[in-house]
Amino acid sequence: MNRLRDLEIKPTQSALGAEIIGTDLSQPMPGELIHRLIKLWEKYHVIFFRGQSVSPERHIQISQWFGPRHAGYENMPILGDSTQPEMITISNVESDGLLGGGYIEPHQDGAYLPTPLAGAMMRAVEVPESGGDTSWSNLILAYQELPVMLKRKIRNLRVTATNIYAGKTSRTDLGGGKQFFAPDESPVYAHPLVRVHPATGKKILWVSPLNSERIEGVRNQIEANALLDTLKRHVDQDHLYYRHRWEAGDILIWDNRCCNHKRDAIPEGQRRVFYRTVIGGSRPF
Ligand code: SIN
Repeated sequence: MNRLRDLEIKPTQSALGAEIIGTDLSQPMPGELIHRLIKLWEKYHVIFFRGQSVSPERHIQISQWFGPRHAGYENMPILGDSTQPEMITISNVESDGLLGGGYIEPHQDGAYLPTPLAGAMMRAVEVPESGGDTSWSNLILAYQELPVMLKRKIRNLRVTATNIYAGKTSRTDLGGGKQFFAPDESPVYAHPLVRVHPATGKKILWVSPLNSERIEGVRNQIEANALLDTLKRHVDQDHLYYRHRWEAGDILIWDNRCCNHKRDAIPEGQRRVFYRTVIGGSRPF
């Protein structure tokens, strides 16, 4: 256990994702194995481990193998509140649980920040018998599949994102109460519509149906809106997704720089208790 030669990689049959077999994340992990896990995360965008049992402290430690914690911006809340706790509960039943039990549309975490999050790590403790699957889509593949003319058209454009936890745009239908910290104004940052993955150099179509707000760099705003709608439909095609059916004991780490994620609703009366940390990101280029 926890030796490079025992590691087994089982790619999903989808557009991204791989199961990593042969590790016990609660046990000491040699540096060369951590390095390999980081490379696998960058290659598959989503990696997951079944049957794990780790403490909250270990969860935070593992998350930091992949990057620093998100330091936070006082006036730009992410899910949770303005104080950016190290780990949050995502649950439809716990008193401190966030995000309730409804469907969550495809999004990137913190797309509205000057430095959108690099990733997140989620640990499943209680899972519903049905529903509550999470799906990730591959935005590198989405870019590659664009027609050449469209690639050319969008190469120097920028896109802004809505902060659904802030100000007038604050959402009240996501459940959980605590995330609705709402400063009056949330500053707006435009990031490249086609960003480059800082580790692999691959081009990413940085668009999400829930977050992406406005394309900048096109003179005619009606045309810009139509372009954004087209791109939102493009990134949301079924073949770009990996759908994860959760099991208790799963630990999953996703690369938020090149994936959107969405969640199915959880049926009434079923319990779901997850814990999540996030990995701080850098300025997109
Ligand atoms: C999220 O959108 O970050 C939560 C996903 C989930 O609850 O599976």
